[in-house]
Amino acid sequence: MLLSAMGAGLLGSHAAARAEPINPVPPSPPEDPARIALGRALFTDPNLSRDGTIACASCHLLAEGGADGRQVSIGIEGKKGDINSPTVYNAGLLNSQFWNGRKKTLEEQIDGPIQNPAEMGNEWGEVLIRLYDNPEYTKQFQALEPDSDEPISRNTVKRAIAAFVRSLNTTNGRFDRWLKGEEDPDTKLTERELEGYRLFKHYGCSSCHQGAAVGGNMFQVFGVINNYFIRRGNITDADRGRFMLTGNIEDMHSFKVPSLRMVALTPPYLHDGTAKTLRDAVDAMFTFQLGLEAPDDHKDAIVAFLRTLPGEHPELEVSPETGAN
Ligand code: HEC
Ligand code: HEC
Repeated sequence: MLLSAMGAGLLGSHAAARAEPINPVPPSPPEDPARIALGRALFTDPNLSRDGTIACASCHLLAEGGADGRQVSIGIEGKKGDINSPTVYNAGLLNSQFWNGRKKTLEEQIDGPIQNPAEMGNEWGEVLIRLYDNPEYTKQFQALEPDSDEPISRNTVKRAIAAFVRSLNTTNGRFDRWLKGEEDPDTKLTERELEGYRLFKHYGCSSCHQGAAVGGNMFQVFGVINNYFIRRGNITDADRGRFMLTGNIEDMHSFKVPSLRMVALTPPYLHDGTAKTLRDAVDAMFTFQLGLEAPDDHKDAIVAFLRTLPGEHPELEVSPETGAN
């Protein structure tokens, strides 16, 4: 397969590297550190929202795993959103952005939160005026775009924020060390975790959740087996998934298969935030994606494996062992 051949190439001549449906998280792409620093400042600045109260980081808490721990997000003026906040860690590895994949790139994605009335509720014109009013930002943008008459523009702001988000790859996690054949006794996987990984493949989880992000590279209907939405009731536009972009009935309830890299740290789960624990999410997958029964012991082993997936990043202050749930 082309993909695994490429994976092997990236790993170079490391003899012990394993051929698996999951690849190690690659390092973030090279980028000017000044642009990343500016992107971080913008990502954490509530002044980008209309009333100055909500930053990107309000719903993507960097220290805690990159999501917000709520069932659905809350934007300016306490407005409730219609969907659960995914993590921003490793978002640069995803083939598309948002639960229904309606944006291709991290740059395009940024229009959403800036303008969404239930998120930051602002307009680009206003954002740019506020940034020009700030001498520190003006200096930083000018240094990055020395030949431009318009150093602060919608495009340069997006470029800086996206550069920061692309710098959020979490490398060197315990599972990745195992993939690379490392044998460090302090980090090596336990028998239980390896059993969980074997079961993850055995039950077919890896037919959807795969690659470096353990997801993010295909779309699938949620509720392939038992109709989740009829059981839950109250169907909203957010539940309709890709149907909202394409209008094709076969895209009804179709979502981007989410990345499982950071799930150890980002409860609650599913696009509607109804699964409170990782175990609840795994139960839902067995019922609605696989239509299979499995012993509790198998499901718990899979959860133990999922906790080995997060990698390291200087912004992260919790580890899968100390993190929520
Ligand atoms: C009010 C909370 C809120 C704010 C503020 C917010 N986000 Fe989000 N973010 C979300 C939610 C909710 C989603 C999922 C939306 C959807 O899929 O329809 C999301 C999705 C994303 C995604 C896609 C991840 C994936 O797995 O598909 C990225 C990247 C992202 N946000 C980055 C940002 C950036 C950059 C900003 C600031 C410009 C920002 N967010 C501001 C709540 C927020
Ligand atoms: C047919 C494809 C498919 C299979 C097979 C599958 N999943 Fe999923 N998984 C999805 C989709 C799609 C979602 C998003 C569902 C939603 O919220 O609408 C998801 C969501 C999840 C989530 C929640 C992620 C989050 O951040 O909210 C977890 C955890 C998960 N799957 C684990 C598993 C496990 C474990 C298995 C095997 C037992 C599995 N999945 C099998 C497609 C699949």
